Amino acid sequence: MTILVTGGAGFIGSNFVLDWLAQSNEPVINLDKLTYAGNLENLASLQGNPNHVFVQGDLGDRELVDRLLAEHRPRAVLNFAAESHVDRSIHGPEDFIQTNILGTFRLLESVRAYWSALPADDKAAFRFLHVSTDEVYGTLAKEDPPFAEDNRYEPNSPYSASKAASDHLVRAWHHTYGLPVLTTNCSNNYGPYHFPEKLIPLMIVNALAGKHLPVYGDGQQIRDWLYVKDHCSAIRRVLEGGRLGETYNVGGWNEKPNIEIVQRVCALLDELRPKADGTSYATQITYVTDRPGHDRRYAIDARKIERELGWKPAETFETGIRKTVEWYLANPDWVAHVQSGSYRDWVAKQYASEAPSA
Ligand code: NAD
Ligand code: TYD
Repeated sequence: MTILVTGGAGFIGSNFVLDWLAQSNEPVINLDKLTYAGNLENLASLQGNPNHVFVQGDLGDRELVDRLLAEHRPRAVLNFAAESHVDRSIHGPEDFIQTNILGTFRLLESVRAYWSALPADDKAAFRFLHVSTDEVYGTLAKEDPPFAEDNRYEPNSPYSASKAASDHLVRAWHHTYGLPVLTTNCSNNYGPYHFPEKLIPLMIVNALAGKHLPVYGDGQQIRDWLYVKDHCSAIRRVLEGGRLGETYNVGGWNEKPNIEIVQRVCALLDELRPKADGTSYATQITYVTDRPGHDRRYAIDARKIERELGWKPAETFETGIRKTVEWYLANPDWVAHVQSGSYRDWVAKQYASEAPSA
């Protein structure tokens, strides 16, 4: 048996592939375009592992995906690949439409053709799992209950609108063609290998570099933070036991305003890597102009996945954020390569003898 993962060189995808191969002998075909966000250095520990087959390519490349499916005959396809950064989607939405909507559509078409031709038993066992976000539900007022699976879709950013569109396509491919799909809508993740354009890693690397810590607006926007390895375990659980055509909200029951997150990161750095001048990293916090259309609050009601599939996060915010800060302190080379863009050169050098199979 084999699974095919898209976007497995990104933040969540690479954590998923690493965890999967640490726990199972089932091979992973990892299809990733290696955009600025894809980093094979995340997967360096898998070099030489025959159960990891990396293929550089686009999820919307029908010819390539058709060939990979025919060649490797996976029992499941898990779609992590996406353009994922809200701020980038505001500056340039086109790539988001291209990858998140058209790319997902083309992937669904390849998978449908492959799945339709499978022998009956394999067809019944096959799964397409689509990894999505809580941002499709829009924004919550302070007193609103958290997002449940039957919340209206009200996406507000080009990113969340493109993810919402992809969720609708996945749903329609189930209802119209019977494709055995599962969708997860998860809250904000944090943890190792997180690209330092997102809040938590940006604050860690800027703090250590003596730079400003830019907090948008009043810093009172609320997100519901989940340690990335808990997201990965939820995806494994949904893949194993999720009901076909269903969506599962995944969250950490950790609602916090951004400013509290930044202060917690500063306090951990003060403890683990105190500044020579004895001042706190919190003195670097700077309030900056707010993001246009900034969603005020996200919160996830994760009771369905707990009730139906027995999934619960293993980490609290306290344990997860400490592990995360420790990881960034222990991996300055990863940070330096990402910041300089030299991970691209690193990949060229490191993988020179290992041509991708496509
Ligand atoms: P990421 O930006 O770190 O990684 C995305 C990966 O997809 C990269 O490796 C990139 O090279 C690859 N990719 C982009 N376009 C591609 C294309 N056209 N074809 C093939 N590969 C392509 O993103 P992430 O944070 O790891 O998010 C993964 C998924 O999880 C996304 O679908 C995202 O919407 C969803 N999600 C993310 C979060 C979060 O907090 N980061 C929360 C909930 C859901
Ligand atoms: P981000 O990590 O970009 O995730 P998302 O927008 O998908 O939730 O941002 C998390 C929160 O942090 C969001 O409310 C925007 C805010 N933020 C800042 O205040 N400063 C920053 O430099 C960044 C990147 C984000």
